[in-house]
Amino acid sequence: MKKQLTIVLLSGISLFAKAQNTVIIKGDDGKTVISRHIYGHFAEHLGRSIYDGFYVGENNTKIPNKNGVRLDVVDALKKLKIPNLRWPGGCFADTYHWKDGIGPKDKRPTIVNTWWGGVTENNSFGTHDFLNMCELLGTEPYLSGNVGSGTVQELSEWVQYVNFPKDSPMSTLRQENGRTAPWNVRYWGVANEAWGCGGNMKPDYYANLYRQYSTFMNANVGKEKIFRIASGASDDDYNWTETLMKNIPMNMLEGVAMHHYSVFGWGENAKGSATDFTETDYAHTMDEALKMDEFIGKHAAIMDKYDPSKKVALIVDEWGAWYNVEPGTNPGFLYQQNTMRDAILAGSTLNIFHNHADRVRMANLAQAINVLQSVILTKGEQMILTPTYHVMEMYSVHQDATLLPIDIKSGSYEVDKYKLPAVSVSASRDKAGKTHISLVNIDLNKPQTITLTLQGVKSTSVTGRILTSAHVQDHNTFDKPETIKPVAFNGAKLSGNTLTVTLPPVSVVVLEM
Ligand code: AHR
Repeated sequence: MKKQLTIVLLSGISLFAKAQNTVIIKGDDGKTVISRHIYGHFAEHLGRSIYDGFYVGENNTKIPNKNGVRLDVVDALKKLKIPNLRWPGGCFADTYHWKDGIGPKDKRPTIVNTWWGGVTENNSFGTHDFLNMCELLGTEPYLSGNVGSGTVQELSEWVQYVNFPKDSPMSTLRQENGRTAPWNVRYWGVANEAWGCGGNMKPDYYANLYRQYSTFMNANVGKEKIFRIASGASDDDYNWTETLMKNIPMNMLEGVAMHHYSVFGWGENAKGSATDFTETDYAHTMDEALKMDEFIGKHAAIMDKYDPSKKVALIVDEWGAWYNVEPGTNPGFLYQQNTMRDAILAGSTLNIFHNHADRVRMANLAQAINVLQSVILTKGEQMILTPTYHVMEMYSVHQDATLLPIDIKSGSYEVDKYKLPAVSVSASRDKAGKTHISLVNIDLNKPQTITLTLQGVKSTSVTGRILTSAHVQDHNTFDKPETIKPVAFNGAKLSGNTLTVTLPPVSVVVLEM
């Protein structure tokens, strides 16, 4: 009897050890589309994002370019199918006067970039340069308007300048500057971080300003109204969202923003190194990143009170990891390397966005090139793709696919005071009927086995790709640009409607069925 009990207990333990994590994929319950705009990017006049990153100047003979825009960057971003690009900031947006950046380049005034390194901005990359670059990239522009130091007239004229098809002073000016047809820009931010660098405003004051500015941003794009995005809360500032939702009429509002950076301290060197970090640092970064789920859930619940039909989108237009700058670089330029930690962070965050796709309909990783959690780093003529780039590319199969809801029971991964879920998962079905499942092993030490029950997913085969490396600190460099790149994954086994997947430590996987 005692022996039998021991065997039962032991087999119980081994069974438990195998099924560390269970997921039910509800393939019959998909009704929400994962907007492709969740895969948006952000390009601010900050450090080497625009100059050196996107734009090297029309006269550059060393780096292949079209009208000054780097072609290697265009090629790489097109492979990500980037759906939208936010510009010109960030904090810079509320110092930017768009008329400084139009007309002959040698006549454009210079300004000081007061937020980012105090460098001189010569305005050689302006509205035409950006909007033409978006056409080259096949992406939708998202323009952030200046409310903090601008005027209502200035912003309403910018809308007319880029969008008005008929005769008007602004469309005539556009034509004089070489562009006949309007660009039809749909997405417009009405200020950035109005609670901080955008003017240190209180929420009710900003809500009033938003009403005033958006009243005069009433143009149409084709038959549609433009999409106006209110400057939103930082992290868990729920009062900000509540005040906007309460005070702005729903017919004046298409989106409310929210920003969340994974950072553990705002002092000059308090953020830790991007590449030289401990397991505890990693757990701290991931703990910060995973708060995104709670923040979105609570902001969305507030929005539900005022907008139960979910007309207004929650737009996470700045997210990502923020570390100390690379040694020897300008502290105002926010240039940081990008490791497998960032790949795990990106994969987990995108899974959170997918699982909240009913309210989160746009997001912008901060930032695309050479700033914070970039997908691309450049050095002179060289360009490298970061681990975050590869995650965005692997996950792009989810763009505009139907979210398949999941029930997940994850084991836990504990490091010092941090208790994190060991895995992160989301699933979708694309228009061709293929199901994709993205899975992240957050646990740095153990392989994680996930048993997935597939309801309403009919498939007899599974293929996959994995992004992995021996150490979480591993990254691509200009000397070794291909240390980390996706390869085929054979760790998924399908038996009837049960899929068993074993993820090695430090890995992000996307399966196709
Ligand atoms: O992305 C860098 C900065 O972070 C942005 O300019 C600002 O909006 C945020 O505080």
